[in-house]
Amino acid sequence: MEKLRIGVLGLGEGRSVISAVQHSEMWELGAICDLKEDLCRERAAEFGLNTWLTSYETMLRDDSLDVIGIYTPDQMHARHILMALEAGKHVICTKPLMVDLTMARPLLEAQKKSGRLVFIGQSSRYFEPAIHQRRDYEKGCNGDLVTVETQYVSDSRWFLERAWSHEAGFSWMYNFLIHALDLAVWYLPNVETVYGVGVCSSNSASRGILAPDALKFLLTDRSGVTASVNGCYAVPALSRPWEHFISCTLRGTMGASKADCPLEYTYHFSEVGKFKHTEHESYESMRSYYYRFEGETHHAGEYQNYMEDFARCLKEGRTPLPDLREGIRTLAVMEAMRRSLASHQVERVDRVLTDAGLSDLV
Ligand SMILES: NC(=O)c1ccc[n+]([C@@H]2O[C@H](COP(=O)([O-])OP(=O)(O)OC[C@H]3O[C@@H](n4cnc5c(N)ncnc54)[C@H](O)[C@@H]3O)[C@@H](O)[C@H]2O)c1
Repeated sequence: MEKLRIGVLGLGEGRSVISAVQHSEMWELGAICDLKEDLCRERAAEFGLNTWLTSYETMLRDDSLDVIGIYTPDQMHARHILMALEAGKHVICTKPLMVDLTMARPLLEAQKKSGRLVFIGQSSRYFEPAIHQRRDYEKGCNGDLVTVETQYVSDSRWFLERAWSHEAGFSWMYNFLIHALDLAVWYLPNVETVYGVGVCSSNSASRGILAPDALKFLLTDRSGVTASVNGCYAVPALSRPWEHFISCTLRGTMGASKADCPLEYTYHFSEVGKFKHTEHESYESMRSYYYRFEGETHHAGEYQNYMEDFARCLKEGRTPLPDLREGIRTLAVMEAMRRSLASHQVERVDRVLTDAGLSDLV
């Protein structure tokens, strides 16, 4: 297979993409780009590269690039995706796709015009337990889905020191809770209603961030399946094995399964009258594939998994998911969640889509 050539924009998390490319048979690195020249030099030295760019516009003029990988701050994604599509490139954009729906229509139109793909790197789908859980679910091991519980809990007080966490458009919901929401909507693709509560802790408030950092939501899908989505970000969290930072539990008519990311999977599938024991799989031996840098920072393993999935889809003529439409629908659920926090009422996703001029996505 001919390798796909990527230009990487933003070299914080972009570091994981460079590592993923260097370890993959399916990808090659075409260019790296960041506004910060010193960071470019650091990454070039780390990965044995000779060149870098500090201008996105220059990178987009490189005809040899098939795909642009976007790893800039959340508030910039929409503009950077638009520029890539206008330059005729496929796009892989990290989560969140964007921080509201204002650019949804222009992006859909630009994508249609360009005929290129936009894939959202919802990395939590690509942790080992999440992959196995999905595989079992698609095989029918859970039976008919009844209810789903997802959570993303982390002590991310460090994030309050980041400059862009203080800029318009940042919220714990779009930046953090999106992981738990995306896992829920993966199993509930037609969420209709949302209700939630949120608290802004004094840890966030004392640093001038008034966005709620402890969040609890209930979602209902058109099919009748329900989900709870929880997040907590600015207070200490419990460490493993007592708490896993991202988890997704599926409860169906024939079995329950729980993906505890990064590396644990527990399940109990059981036909009526046939009791089976709960099984547990640990992927601890894959820790060095998932975490390649200091501590548990960065996400190289999940990124390599999603980039290779993207490459396989392109080769086989399939659309890699979540794509732009799915990503926009997920953000509409997020927007309904935000409305519910303000209104203290149940909010409808179709209403959000209609208000944003996106009723064709209802
Ligand atoms: N699991 C995951 O999928 C995951 C994990 C962490 C971060 N992220 C996402 O990755 C993105 C980046 O996060 P980060 O932690 O690396 O942030 P960061 O601030 O460390 O890095 C962003 C980089 O983008 C660069 N940049 C900004 N505008 C630019 C431009 N016009 N041209 C070139 N470079 C530009 C900045 O100089 C900076 O180095 C965020 O959207 C975040 O939500 C995803």
